[in-house]
Amino acid sequence: MRTRIKDALNACDSQDEIVIKGWVRTKRDAKGFSFLEINDGSCLQNLQVVVDGDIPTYAVLEKIGTGAAVKVRGSLVESPGKGQKWEVQAREVELIGYADPKTYPLQKKRHSDEFLRTIAHLRPRTNKYGAINRIRSELSFAIHKYFHDQGFWYIHTPIITGSDCEGAGEMFQVTSLNLNQFSGMSGQIDFSRDFFGKKALLTVSGQLEAEALACALGDVYTFGPTFRAENSNTSRHAAEFWMIEPEMAFADLEDDMELAEDCVKKLVSYVLEHCTQDINLFARFVDKDLMNRLEKVLQGDFVRLSYKEAISILKKAGRSFEFPVEFGLDLQTEHERYLTEEYCKKPVIVFNYPREIKAFYMRLNDDGQTVAAMDVLVPKIGELIGGSQREERLDVLESRLKKLGLSKDEYWWYLDLRRFGTVPHAGFGMGFERLLMFVTGVSNIRDVIPFPRTPKCLEF
Ligand code: 4AD
Ligand code: MG
Repeated sequence: MRTRIKDALNACDSQDEIVIKGWVRTKRDAKGFSFLEINDGSCLQNLQVVVDGDIPTYAVLEKIGTGAAVKVRGSLVESPGKGQKWEVQAREVELIGYADPKTYPLQKKRHSDEFLRTIAHLRPRTNKYGAINRIRSELSFAIHKYFHDQGFWYIHTPIITGSDCEGAGEMFQVTSLNLNQFSGMSGQIDFSRDFFGKKALLTVSGQLEAEALACALGDVYTFGPTFRAENSNTSRHAAEFWMIEPEMAFADLEDDMELAEDCVKKLVSYVLEHCTQDINLFARFVDKDLMNRLEKVLQGDFVRLSYKEAISILKKAGRSFEFPVEFGLDLQTEHERYLTEEYCKKPVIVFNYPREIKAFYMRLNDDGQTVAAMDVLVPKIGELIGGSQREERLDVLESRLKKLGLSKDEYWWYLDLRRFGTVPHAGFGMGFERLLMFVTGVSNIRDVIPFPRTPKCLEF
């Protein structure tokens, strides 16, 4: 049985017999013995192994270098060196998997993020990407724990969908037709011959289906992959990303904003408490202001601004933005970042947006001009969360669909929810990768998901 390095490093006592398996980060040879630094992914830290020249298997060390997979058997003893409490005094070293030092791409020096993206299959073996993946895992767990503790049911909404949902973005199409058949053909493709007998797409959001479950189970959430085919090559957009979408029955915009704020705070404090070592790596090497920013999240309330107030603040900002600031126009990232980074210096919730720039399902406010929408904006990212109270009034919803030229027939089941036992309800979507960027300070979305999918990029 192998002992994980994390457990070995946390041991209370020395151990006569221990087996460690992992990958060699470095090997240093001294007179009559060698040091191996081994990492097995269980934590950021390596375990130091001392191999005396007189052990029977010492000769194998010649073939062991950075990147090799090894098994070490020996004793866990107090380390005389500084920096670690424990080290392993090896009795036996076995080479499990050889790595040719001449061609192994990860050298001891620091590599650029751009280079590491080209070896996404190996980058989890670096400190930084190991840490990101561990934080990703802990944060996923924290999300489930948070909603479970709040009494929400975890539901699964479909990935393949027949409706283009909400116009949240361009969509990928799914087909089992042989597309080669259609090359050079003109005219419309007959989707009745396709797998589902109609056009099928990858979902941009599980919201509409989540509403159906909320209107039966009360409080629910989804946490799964979503897809957007918009060709925006930015550091904050991916074609495949994970989204957390809670949906609450008997809830309004106020409840929605409260849940969003509480959720972000609890998740940030979970990570600070449970991923201390990994987060410290980012605070030291990636983003010096990280701790300060995360602590601001926990201190006091998020600022709340109506869209109208936000516009007037931006107009008075006394700076030239690239995109115009005008009531009725959507906020761009530069505007969002000004509000949260410079004006408020903490997370901001902007609410009550003009109905023209928001989706059909958002509840129309009494002014007839704005909808009960809200976005949570955070420093360095801009929009982290987008949500709203949903339009629960059948007649209002139908007239919104009509105005937007959307077909009532396509949304028949969605309208049924308003026809039978309709209730006020609200929810939001939080981009999981954006949350990871926020808690780590990593500035490119390509670096917080193991195998990013972006325009013209589908390696691995
Ligand atoms: O604001 P969005 O488009 O909202 C919805 O999809 C709603 N249906 C959610 C709901 O109310 N249930 O997306 C929600 C969040 C954004 O705030 C952003 O964090 C993230 O999803 N997001 C993306 N993350 C990475 N890459 C992209 N291309 C993203 N598009 C949106
Ligand atoms: Mg949005």
